[in-house]
Amino acid sequence: MATSMHLNLFIMGCGHHKAAWRHPSSAVERLGDISYYEALARTAERGKFDAVFFADGQAAGNVADGPLWFLEPLTTLAAMARATEHIGLISTISSTFYTPFHAARMLASLDHISRGRVGWNLVTSMFDSEARNHNYPAMPSHAERYSRAAEFADTMLALWDSWEEDALRCDRAGLFADPDKVQAITHQGEHFLVDGPLNIPRPPQGRPVLFQAGASEQGRDLAARYAEAIYAVAYDLDSAQAYYRDIQARVASCGRSPVAIMPGLVTYVASSEAEARVRQRELDVLLPTQDSLRQLSQFIGQDCSDWALDAPLPALPPLEEFTGPKGRYATILRIIDCEKPTLRELLGRLAAGGGHCTMIGTPEKIADEMQRWVEQGGADGFNLMPPALPSSIDDFVDQVVPVLQQRGLFRREYTGCTLREHLGLERPSAS
Ligand SMILES: Cc1cc2nc3c(=O)[nH]c(=O)nc-3n(C[C@H](O)[C@H](O)[C@H](O)COP(=O)(O)O)c2cc1C
Repeated sequence: MATSMHLNLFIMGCGHHKAAWRHPSSAVERLGDISYYEALARTAERGKFDAVFFADGQAAGNVADGPLWFLEPLTTLAAMARATEHIGLISTISSTFYTPFHAARMLASLDHISRGRVGWNLVTSMFDSEARNHNYPAMPSHAERYSRAAEFADTMLALWDSWEEDALRCDRAGLFADPDKVQAITHQGEHFLVDGPLNIPRPPQGRPVLFQAGASEQGRDLAARYAEAIYAVAYDLDSAQAYYRDIQARVASCGRSPVAIMPGLVTYVASSEAEARVRQRELDVLLPTQDSLRQLSQFIGQDCSDWALDAPLPALPPLEEFTGPKGRYATILRIIDCEKPTLRELLGRLAAGGGHCTMIGTPEKIADEMQRWVEQGGADGFNLMPPALPSSIDDFVDQVVPVLQQRGLFRREYTGCTLREHLGLERPSAS
């Protein structure tokens, strides 16, 4: 029996390939132009996607290397809400840098504006450069960040619940809202002091949908306790299945029903595999090789600056002998083992998606692979990370989505109005 999947468009600048902005047809001059994002959301909506998603960070990064951030996600999503009707709208929110009252208010407002289409991706942030824009000399420890994240989530949920479902009366001769149904939360925890209630009535979805993407033990536990959907990183089906089993076991041990898990997916689609590889190479050749080689030399702990770019890679020492950071090194060994790339192809793979899965080929071949992941317990859907925008998402929507629909693997029309409904989630009542 076919299983229906979820699809999410992860919007990132000119695309997820680090050289995408250098392509002659890129929209790099339009990254401050809201119509660029509105058009992307409409494309994803034409493809009947569940949602679009913006990641977010709090520091400018290396501006010479390409666009990292431009428009702020929540204000951008407010405009995108007005340009679309069905698609979900998701933004990252950092529990380390926001306060719960501020974040709960903005998300509730956006949920009203979009009539129930908002989700948030709860992150704890990573970089000292971000911390130093928000009153911290350096990033708080991992444990401290996750302790704050759990309290942040509890407080957000309590604030949205501070207005009961039927609190609003709009009775011109009587009450605007019933004060007995709008209650303070009087939260006093380790990290936050929040009286409440929220100054916005209950959002249309009750609570905006909570996504999470933690990888560590604490990250997975936080996801198990709170997440209603999860963004995952999986290089291949084996690692996707292992992550899937681990998360669903943690979710079950919290007494919760299984959550939707969506690994990231980079696709190069064309009418033949050779043509799809041409698309990939078009981006790979735009990478400034000196920078990429310097970065790869760091990742693998040896100088590769004079290796031939278009020849297969020499054998690298096994993981056990490598003394540097092992996670990225393990991914590189895996890419070399499975894909036998040339040095230039490896730089391109790392520049687009890194440890995320990459599928290259015809629409049928990509649909086959996606189907295999969903039917064999590796995914409930995918977080599409198009290497170039808008071209790669146009290709996906025009070529892969129809194949998935013909196979009964993906919706032909929206059957609900809210993001919760697209994801098959219950609407929570105020607890
Ligand atoms: C699809 C995806 C999107 C993410 N978006 C963000 C983001 O916008 N901002 C951020 O600081 N971290 C983001 N992360 C990072 C994670 O939230 C998390 O910090 C990282 O996976 C490390 O996990 P850990 O802290 O549990 O070790 C994202 C991760 C994934 C897989």
